[in-house]
Amino acid sequence: MEVGWSARQGVLLCLTVSLLLQGRANTTFTINCSGFHQDGVDPAAFQAIFNQKAFRPVTNYSIPTHVNISFTLSAILEVDAQLQLLTSFLWFNMIWANPFISWDPEECDNVNKLTVTTENLWLPDIFIVESMNVDQTPEGLSAYVTSDGRIAYSKPMRVTSICNLDIFYFPFDQQNCTLTFSSFLYTVDSMLLGMEKEVWEIKDTSQDVVRTQGEWEFLGISKATPRMVVGSSLFDQIMFYVAIRRKPNLYVINLLVPSGFLMAIDALSFYLPAESGNRAPFKITLLLGYNVFLLMMNKLLPSSGTPLISVYFALCLSLMVLSLLETVFITYLLHLATTQPPPMPGWLHSLLLHCTCPRKCCPTASHKGNKGLGLPPAQLPGLKEPVELVEKSPGPGEAEVAGGLGWTRAQREQEAQKQHRVELWVQFSHMMDTLLFRLYLLFLASSILTVIGLWST
Ligand SMILES: *[C@@H]1O[C@H](CO)[C@@H](O)[C@H](O)[C@H]1NC(C)=O
Ligand SMILES: *[C@@H]1O[C@H](CO)[C@@H](O)[C@H](O)[C@H]1NC(C)=O
Ligand SMILES: *[C@@H]1O[C@H](CO)[C@@H](O)[C@H](O)[C@H]1NC(C)=O
Ligand SMILES: *[C@@H]1O[C@H](CO)[C@@H](O)[C@H](O)[C@H]1NC(C)=O
Ligand SMILES: *[C@@H]1O[C@H](CO)[C@@H](O)[C@H](O)[C@H]1NC(C)=O
Repeated sequence: MEVGWSARQGVLLCLTVSLLLQGRANTTFTINCSGFHQDGVDPAAFQAIFNQKAFRPVTNYSIPTHVNISFTLSAILEVDAQLQLLTSFLWFNMIWANPFISWDPEECDNVNKLTVTTENLWLPDIFIVESMNVDQTPEGLSAYVTSDGRIAYSKPMRVTSICNLDIFYFPFDQQNCTLTFSSFLYTVDSMLLGMEKEVWEIKDTSQDVVRTQGEWEFLGISKATPRMVVGSSLFDQIMFYVAIRRKPNLYVINLLVPSGFLMAIDALSFYLPAESGNRAPFKITLLLGYNVFLLMMNKLLPSSGTPLISVYFALCLSLMVLSLLETVFITYLLHLATTQPPPMPGWLHSLLLHCTCPRKCCPTASHKGNKGLGLPPAQLPGLKEPVELVEKSPGPGEAEVAGGLGWTRAQREQEAQKQHRVELWVQFSHMMDTLLFRLYLLFLASSILTVIGLWST
């Protein structure tokens, strides 16, 4: 490859040098423009240049051609997270010098610049390294040729370029895509790239011009100019970093807000009394609703990678499942407490006393003594039934009736003890419920804060 190339370059050099030597006279470098004003431009005047279009236009092949480039980003068409592709639309400009073209505008009816179809001109082979589609430049474009031999060429480009998309922060993500302009063939000995405009000018015109950006917001452009080494050849290149940011509104409204509502309802459903038996069906319905929501909204999520939002949804779902399990557990505990309460272990009893006492004023508790915990039921969510239970058990009327039916004193005591146990267990269940609810809230809050913290960085 290298050998072939240098051989070809040698042939080219010989050819051009012989051409140059033939026409060393001034006339080769200036165009006879006597015909510019009558019947348009005389093609014969340019014929010598057109004939040379196969070769890089330089007077000395040791001199590299300087090509100044710039572009305007006119549309961000698509960002494909699965294929990692950015499709954008550019207006690409190149300016370079052709030392063989020059004329005196004063002699030529004040014509300063002309358009020439690009088929007749040598063009630099600048391409975008990341581009994944073949050049779809429309045919028959023209370039401006000025009287001092500078050629300005612009073309529209639809570029599908590889971009390393990081969707972890979806939908609050920002992407940084690279567009590297380089020559396909010419190494640094033959072609050097420069900037036609400053980067901030490119950024400002792009921001003014950009027509459609879909769900993306164009943030800015920065550049770097490292040279590219391929084998032993060194290529000049200019890298532009295009920064874009997703507009998150659609996703906030369609994903985060409904999910937030469902989570809020799930948290509030802890206030449904555990004894009423409504809580578990309610939570199951919510869980179903959340699943349906996830199914419907799945197409809005990126189809590749694991964005934070998916983790967040999974977390919400598992919290819902956990809260349902908690409800099942509390319901079981209450059922156990009211039907056949086992004797409460001593440590649990003292723990219960310890946990409930400091919250309540201790005098009340000590006043009621061994009658129980002395905790007003209003302290815990949904403590209606136990109140009735507690009030019913030591009711003097019932005791009399029981006595009337011939219950022995021992039986009555046993019954009272059982009621006491029931009361203790119910108390314990409600304490567990409150505790687990607080844990749930703590976990929910910390996970939401973590996710928000990650998103806002
Ligand atoms: C080229 O032409 C200019 C006038 O147009 C003249 O002054 C100059 O000497 C010429 N140069 C050569 C190398 O012939
Ligand atoms: C330019 O071309 C015209 C004929 O088209 C010729 O008469 C004239 O001498 C030429 N001028 C020069 C400087 O060669
Ligand atoms: C071409 O340029 C190089 C360096 O710039 C110089 O050494 C060489 O003599 C030049 N060749 C011609 C034919 O002018
Ligand atoms: C390219 O840009 C450089 C520096 O901005 C400038 O000196 C040079 O004349 C430009 N070349 C062309 C062909 O416009
Ligand atoms: C894009 O990434 C490059 C390095 O890969 C960095 O130099 C540049 O500053 C980044 N641009 C933005 C806007 O983050």
